[in-house]
Amino acid sequence: MSGAYERAGWQRTHTCGELREEHAGSKAVLNGWVASRRNLGGIYFIDVRDRYGVTQVVLPEDLDASAKLAREDCISVTGEVALREAPNERMPTGMIELRAASVEKLSASKTPPFEIEENLDTSVELRLKHRYLDLRRPDMQRALMHRSRFIGAMRAAFLARDFAEVETPILTKATPEGARDYLVPSRVHPGDFYALPQSPQIFKQILMVSGMDRYFQVARCFRDEDLRADRQPEFTQLDMEMSFVEEEDVFAAWEGVLADTFKGAMGVDLPLPFPRVTWREAMERFGSDKPDTRFGMELIDVADWVSVSGFGVFEKMIADGKRVMAIAVPGGGEAVSRGNMKKLEEVAKTYGAKGLAWWKPGVEGGAGGSIVKFCQGDSGAKLCEVTGAGEGDLVLLVGDEESTTWRSLGALRLHVARELGMIPRVDGADAGSTGPWNFLWVTDFPMFERDEEPADGGPPRWVSLHHPFTAPADWDMPGDPGAMGSRAYDLVLNGWELGSGSIRIHRQETQEKVFDLLGLDEAQQQAKFGFLLDALSYGPPPHGGFAVGLDRIVALTLGMESIRDVVAFPKTASATDLMCEAPSGVEPHQMGDLYIRHDGLPSAGGAES
Ligand code: AMO
Repeated sequence: MSGAYERAGWQRTHTCGELREEHAGSKAVLNGWVASRRNLGGIYFIDVRDRYGVTQVVLPEDLDASAKLAREDCISVTGEVALREAPNERMPTGMIELRAASVEKLSASKTPPFEIEENLDTSVELRLKHRYLDLRRPDMQRALMHRSRFIGAMRAAFLARDFAEVETPILTKATPEGARDYLVPSRVHPGDFYALPQSPQIFKQILMVSGMDRYFQVARCFRDEDLRADRQPEFTQLDMEMSFVEEEDVFAAWEGVLADTFKGAMGVDLPLPFPRVTWREAMERFGSDKPDTRFGMELIDVADWVSVSGFGVFEKMIADGKRVMAIAVPGGGEAVSRGNMKKLEEVAKTYGAKGLAWWKPGVEGGAGGSIVKFCQGDSGAKLCEVTGAGEGDLVLLVGDEESTTWRSLGALRLHVARELGMIPRVDGADAGSTGPWNFLWVTDFPMFERDEEPADGGPPRWVSLHHPFTAPADWDMPGDPGAMGSRAYDLVLNGWELGSGSIRIHRQETQEKVFDLLGLDEAQQQAKFGFLLDALSYGPPPHGGFAVGLDRIVALTLGMESIRDVVAFPKTASATDLMCEAPSGVEPHQMGDLYIRHDGLPSAGGAES
């Protein structure tokens, strides 16, 4: 006895991307959406679209269905495949058409609020509100398919290396990754909250204590932070951790996995190993801990010029231990007008610089720059020699505290490169793509940085640059916390931070010392991390790991500017889902169940704090 249902007559025999010349003469049924309708001299043509492609359908004259078919109706077409009189070489199915004998409307569509087409030019809000239609567009379908292939290939690469995928909890306790937590009130424990994980960090370390040895997970993470093009409140990491390793083992594992993934998902060969710079070198050369190495225009120390320039302001800065540095913009003499300088100055000031000095070699008078009078004769020749600039170029200079000088010139470097079109764009995610795929390991990050104005209004204190579980470069942790190195590393691709990781603290007393330095007293350590400290007292193995932002790498490999376009149902910059209108109010009884009462909205100040 068979329990099988019979296939219904309307069900497809082929997809809309499948039919070719060799199918001519055979019968086919296609299912899909009406992408377009045309009436050519009394003959009605429609294009039917599904995820796989588009096929031209000729409607029989007596059917007169075209009048009743609207764009985006979902239909089933039955007919015979025929060679086209006028083939379309650009379409994979362009040699044939389906001569319909019957058309069945499976469901009707209202007139869509925007065209279902590539490179759509409409508001993001409209696209997100009708995401089901937006995702019907071929470029969005390609992005989701690429994402699926990419994650699939990465999973396979980890499994092939003996990593085990383990899921960790979503309802959990706060893990500090530097953002605010999303909290979930407990019904069973009045007044208590779960936190959604900012990352699986502590669980993966505990899995190492448990002897799992090699863990990975496609892990959803939640962070309540200010959103940008490369940030979503919930996002996905390819998270991993390994036991009995040092930095080189983690780097080698990732380089292998990424090479396999690029090959498997895109047919692209990545050159290995990836280049490396220390954090200090990255800051010194690029003014950023995520350098975009697709173009030059590196930062240059110009102290040697300052000493012969006669420019007192800069001389005093050097005497005070500050830094004076520059970038030389090739062709900037022409390309950057005096009017543009205002904008550049604003960029520098956003990063804390008090001003921006500039000079155009070979241009006299005010048009030659703000410091033209200190660049005459030998002084000008020296500045050209130090910076490599010549006539026709532009030199931008900042003098300030070291980190301000780095960061403001780093931001200017990027801004100018974008404005002048100096950054080569990724040329697609297919075999033969030459990227550019500028991967870069950044190593030897500092251990701590000083938070002068903590968000909670407390006194200035040390905070971890990576996270508090990162091992110090020297286990004894001597001296000034501000000068301590860590064993954290980042992976950068084309100027985006793709991933972060570190060798971890596997010694309980070191972990306690780090918590001490971060200002957590013993009771707070126990309340927040007692379970981790406890686990670390049962023979933890030395371990380390890494997590890559999957949304970011998928967007970058497609040459996209925003991760929103590779997330099926993303949130807006104000963290709302415009389609389902989340977040939203709930029923009073649900609030009651959770012991939540609120007396209206917090004051404007409270909402932002
Ligand atoms: P980190 O906090 O650096 O490290 O995160 C790792 C990577 O996750 C991505 N990422 C994001 N992507 C989209 N939206 C966001 N809001 C967002 N925040 C982070 C980035 C980032 O490099 N537990 C550690 C990793 C470790 O030490 O193993 C961690 O989460 O690509």
